Amino acid sequence: MTIAPDSALDTAPAPALRIGPIALDTPVVLAPMAGITNTAFRRLCREYGAGLYVSEMITSRALVERNAITMRLIQHHESETPRSIQLYGVDPATIAEAVRIIVAEDRADHIDLNFGCPVPKVTRKGGGAALPWKIGLFSDIVQRAVKAAGDVPLTVKMRKGINKDHLTFLDAGRAAEDAGAAAVALHARTASEYYSGHADWSAIGELKQAVTSIPVLGNGDIWSAADAVRMMEETGCDGVVVGRGCLGRPWLFGELAAALGPSAQPGGEPAPVVDATLGFVKDAFRRHAELLVEFFEDEDRGCKDIRKHVAWYFKGYPVGGELRAALARASTLQEIDDLLGTIGDAPYPGVGAEGQRGRAGSPKRTALPEGWLDSREIGEGVGDMMRGAETENDGG
Ligand SMILES: Cc1cc2nc3c(=O)[nH]c(=O)nc-3n(C[C@H](O)[C@H](O)[C@H](O)COP(=O)(O)O)c2cc1C
Repeated sequence: MTIAPDSALDTAPAPALRIGPIALDTPVVLAPMAGITNTAFRRLCREYGAGLYVSEMITSRALVERNAITMRLIQHHESETPRSIQLYGVDPATIAEAVRIIVAEDRADHIDLNFGCPVPKVTRKGGGAALPWKIGLFSDIVQRAVKAAGDVPLTVKMRKGINKDHLTFLDAGRAAEDAGAAAVALHARTASEYYSGHADWSAIGELKQAVTSIPVLGNGDIWSAADAVRMMEETGCDGVVVGRGCLGRPWLFGELAAALGPSAQPGGEPAPVVDATLGFVKDAFRRHAELLVEFFEDEDRGCKDIRKHVAWYFKGYPVGGELRAALARASTLQEIDDLLGTIGDAPYPGVGAEGQRGRAGSPKRTALPEGWLDSREIGEGVGDMMRGAETENDGG
């Protein structure tokens, strides 16, 4: 990745993806995932691949109030460039202020806004994926955030809409484009679909037709490099955003770089670039644990945090339930080393290690404020109610 001055752009080879001044030679973005994409995980993914690696979602009000945990979450390691922060919020002034702080204090090279969260405690107050329905408020937020961001590119991540009868992605995509966003990303599900079924990639193609002056990024159900290539071919999108597919498989970013980066061979199935033997996976798991300990500056917390990753790393590998449970109880790196030492090597198990991981679940009716769907304009007193949607939430 480079951040090139305009004068250098005339001679440089065309980048695979440009987000404002950020030129990426691999059109791949790590999806923001609350509780996952902290500095430790971003560094690990970057060690294997290329692209843009977005932070966990940061609540703009908490940032404006300089909440200690939030200030820690927005930090990047010196090896991270470009630095990327995702903000969540509902109030235009608060979001703009959070953006101003990030820019004034030079804390990121890219800012993303989250309009995709389907969690009931957020949508019930009109936040997250419910918000683009109020298209005037959505436009106001993006316009003010873009203005506050100045030269730092600001992008928008959203879902298709609230449910199949209340789609917002085309209007919101065009509104974001008009407001000066540097790119839009679509998780091709509605809020009501949550994480169920299959992402509707045709909506990404529709958005690409509707939004013509800035990159359109596709998101949803990329489990392999072949999926990413297929999404780009089928939808014409300018880049891919990869979430659950890299859980327990940070080396997916190496495969994505090989399939979509400068040395990619056009046509054919992408060849695996990594021989993911059990020994290889153990090393990646150990490295992740070590980076988490460094990030939390606390061995016990780091070892506790790696617990949620155990099943993802060892999916499909001959690592028994007792050993997995013991790894999920370990509280020191030495304990982890001792346990990993008892596991021999084994070849890559193929299809058993592939496919779906992370959140799934079934469709649910999206919780909304009373009368929310009656109008696309924001009514009186709604702002106060919505502030309740600015509590911490678990992403989306
Ligand atoms: C554990 C988890 C946390 C998430 N947190 C966020 C978040 O903070 N912000 C956001 O925009 N999306 C969040 N998402 C949604 C993802 O960014 C992504 O849109 C979604 O998982 C679909 O992509 P995938 O099929 O590649 O996983 C989260 C998803 C998961 C599984």
